[in-house]
Formats: sequence, C-alpha cells, structure tokens
Amino acid sequence: MRYITFALTKGRLADTTMELLEKAGITCREVLDKKTRKLIFVNDELKMKFFLSKGPDVPTYVEYGAADIGIVGKDTIMEEGRNIYEVLDLGFGKCDMCVCGPRDAKELLSHYEQIRVATKYPGIARDYFNNTKNQTVEIIKLNGSIELAPIVGLSEVIVDIVETGSTLKENNLVVLEKICPLSARMVVNQVSMRMENERITKIIKDVSDVLMKENQ
Ligand code: PRP
Repeated sequence: MRYITFALTKGRLADTTMELLEKAGITCREVLDKKTRKLIFVNDELKMKFFLSKGPDVPTYVEYGAADIGIVGKDTIMEEGRNIYEVLDLGFGKCDMCVCGPRDAKELLSHYEQIRVATKYPGIARDYFNNTKNQTVEIIKLNGSIELAPIVGLSEVIVDIVETGSTLKENNLVVLEKICPLSARMVVNQVSMRMENERITKIIKDVSDVLMKENQ
C-alpha cells in the first residue's frame, strides 16, 4: 500500500489541525515536537506521512502531487489559484478578508478614486477591486505587518485578514469593507482523488464525522 502524504500549514493552524486529525484516528504526535529539525514524519501503521510547510506552499505541494492532502487557509487557496480540489471546510481558523484603513479612507472607496492598496494578497485584492468594485487601484505587495502601510503613508488602505480585530484597533484602523469569510480547508490532489479514492474518501468522511459531532 502506498503512503498518503499530508501537507500541513506551519504556525497558527498546525496545533488545531493535528488535534482534529487525531480525533479522526489520524495520529502523528511528532509533528508538533517544537525541538525536532526533522521535516517529514511517518506513521507506518497508518501508511501516512506528514510535513509542515509555509501556507502558500501547501497548494503547490498538493497540485504537483508531492502531497495528496493539504490543510490550508481559504485565503491561501484563493490567492494561489492552484488546480486542486477543496473538499472540506474545517471550521477553525475563522476570520474575514477585509479592506481596512483609517476611518476617513471610507470615501475613497466609493468614488472610484485611484488609490494604493497594500496587501500580502495581491491576487485577491486585484480581483476584488477590478471585478467586484470596478475601481482601478495600485496594488503594493507586502509580506507582513500590513497594518503599517496606511500608518506610514505607503497606501491609503490595506487588504488583509481580520481575526479578533485587535491589531486594527490598536493602530486606529477600522474595517471599511468585508470581502469574504475565511477558514481552514482540506484540499486534495486531483489525481490522488481518483487513484486513492477509497482511502481519501474515508479520511474526508472520518474528519467530517468528527466536525459534525463537535457541532451538535
Ligand atoms: C495577521 C493579519 C493581521 C492580524 C489580524 O497577521 O495579517 O495583521 O493577523 O489578527 P487580529 O484581527 O486578531 O488582530 P499575522 O499575525 O499572521 O502576521 P503578519 O502581519 O506578519 O502577516
């Protein structure tokens, strides 16, 4: 039997992901061992392998079949636009993709003004402004601490994730427009879905059974 490989997102999502998989009988304790420098973890009994990678790389590993299954945020799936199947909403890592900025930037969004938008998600931002709002904007790609951009005058607004809202609040910024809700999703390689249909379908079912029980 060949091994089914999971690509998991490093960081915030990892602990919750492993907790959920464990409840579905998919165990691999070692993954969360902060001290190890090992990159790939194997459960020989289950014939499964696991590795952690940066979020934006998860859809890449899954599209190319280096991983059969991935767990990754919907934001990353949208931004990367890979050819993969999104099979399950895991219901955690809930947040919103939003246009944010100082309160007085609101009017810049209603007059089709040419503004600058800083974001870690240029694809999502471009799609929203071009196709939903029909507003021509200049997108500036940043890699983190996006909230800084309007504070230091790099851009008028930002497109970013809002979870608790505390980063915005502490920096005198507000949500100006909501783009879409986000959460962690399970994604599957398109060929694996055919070739390993029985095993992958069972994994999806076992995980969704856990989610259903938890939501009762
Ligand atoms: C994310 C996001 C916001 C913040 C939102 O950043 O980009 O900055 O979390 O969370 P909150 O609404 O609960 O305050 P992250 O911490 O992942 O780091 P980054 O800014 O370096 O991307």
